[in-house]
Amino acid sequence: MNVLVIGGAGYIGSHCVRQLQAAGHRPVVLDNLVYGHRQAVASDVAFYEGNLGDIPTVEKILRDEQIELVMHFAAFAYVGESVQEPLKYYENNLAAPIRLLQAMRNAGVTKFVFSSTCATFGIPEKMPITEDLPQRPINPYGQTKLDFENTLKACAHAYGLSFAAFRYFNAAGAAEDGAIGEDHDPESHLIPLAVFAAQGKRDKLTVFGTDYPTPDGTCLRDYIHVDDLSRAHIAVFDKLSEPGTGLFYNLGTGKPTSVLEIINAVEKVTGLKVPYVTGDRRAGDPPALYADSSKAKNELGWEPKFMDIEGIIATAWKWHQSHPDGYDA
Ligand SMILES: NC(=O)c1ccc[n+]([C@@H]2O[C@H](COP(=O)([O-])OP(=O)(O)OC[C@H]3O[C@@H](n4cnc5c(N)ncnc54)[C@H](O)[C@@H]3O)[C@@H](O)[C@H]2O)c1
Repeated sequence: MNVLVIGGAGYIGSHCVRQLQAAGHRPVVLDNLVYGHRQAVASDVAFYEGNLGDIPTVEKILRDEQIELVMHFAAFAYVGESVQEPLKYYENNLAAPIRLLQAMRNAGVTKFVFSSTCATFGIPEKMPITEDLPQRPINPYGQTKLDFENTLKACAHAYGLSFAAFRYFNAAGAAEDGAIGEDHDPESHLIPLAVFAAQGKRDKLTVFGTDYPTPDGTCLRDYIHVDDLSRAHIAVFDKLSEPGTGLFYNLGTGKPTSVLEIINAVEKVTGLKVPYVTGDRRAGDPPALYADSSKAKNELGWEPKFMDIEGIIATAWKWHQSHPDGYDA
C-alpha cells in the first residue's frame, strides 16, 4: 500500500515509516520539519517538506504518489504551551488537519489513521482506561485531539471516510538497531530526561509529587514502545476496507510504572546514577493513567512485544549512546 505519513520525520512517525517498509508497504513522508528531523527518514523514502494544512500541496502529493491511506502523526503536543497558546494548537491540531481531510476528499483518498492520545480522557473516573470511558480533556491539547476525533466521526458518516484513531499512552524507546530514536527540543518526556540527567547533560531530574495515592507516592504511567505503537497502525489496515468505518483503540501495555520505578530502571540499564530532586505536584497530573488495550488485542491481533520497562529503556539507551547529540551529531 502507498501510505502518506504526515509527521514522518518526528519521533513516532519516523519509527512507523521503518515498520511500513519492513512490512512491504511504500511510505511517503510529508513534514514541515518544525520539530522533525530530515535525518530520521531514510534516503530511499520520498520526502516532501510542507504543511499538512496546505490543500494544493497535499492534494498534489496524494495524486502524484497514488496514496491509498494517510497516517497523521503531525501535531503540537506540549500540554503547558497549549494552555498558554491555545490558538496555535487549535490551528495546527484541528484547523490544519480539517484542511487535510478536504485535500483527501478532493483527491479521493478515503483511508486515514490518526494519532490521538489518552489526554482526551482527562482525569478518568476508573483505571485501566477502556475506550468507552467519558472523554473530558482538561487542556487545549487534549481538547483539540478530541475535537478532531469527532470531526473524523462526522466525515465517516457523511463522506464514507474510513478511519482508525489510536489513543497512545506514553510512547517510549527507540528502534532496536539504535538508528533512529527520540529527539524532541524541548524534551518533556520522562525517560530521555532521566537519561540526560544520568549522563550529566541536564540538571537533576525533578519528581513532581511524592504524596500521590500510589504504592511509592509518585505518578503511575503506561509506557509503550514506539515500534509496538507503529505495528498497531499497520495491523488496522485490513479493517479499513469498508467505507464509513470508524475505529478507536487505546494503546498501552496496561502496566502502570511509577516515576521512581523509571528512575530505578534507567539506573539499572545505564549503570549510572540518576540525580533527582522532589518537587510539588503539577496541576492537572492525575495519580495514575494506564490503558486497557484488550480491544486492540482482540480485534487487531496486536500484542506489545515490549512488556518490560527495562527492555524499553534499553532501546532508548542504545539510541542515546550512539547519538549523544541526537540527530545533530
Ligand atoms: N510522544 C508521545 O508520548 C505521544 C503520546 C500521545 C500522543 N502522541 C501524538 O503522537 C503524534 C506524534 O508525536 P511525536 O512524539 O512523534 O511528535 P513529534 O513532534 O516528534 O513529531 C511530530 C512531527 O510532525 C511535524 N509537524 C507538526 N506540525 C506539522 C504541520 N502542520 N505540517 C507538517 N508537519 C508537521 C513535526 O515537524 C514533527 O516532525 C502527535 O500527534 C502526538 O500528539 C504522542
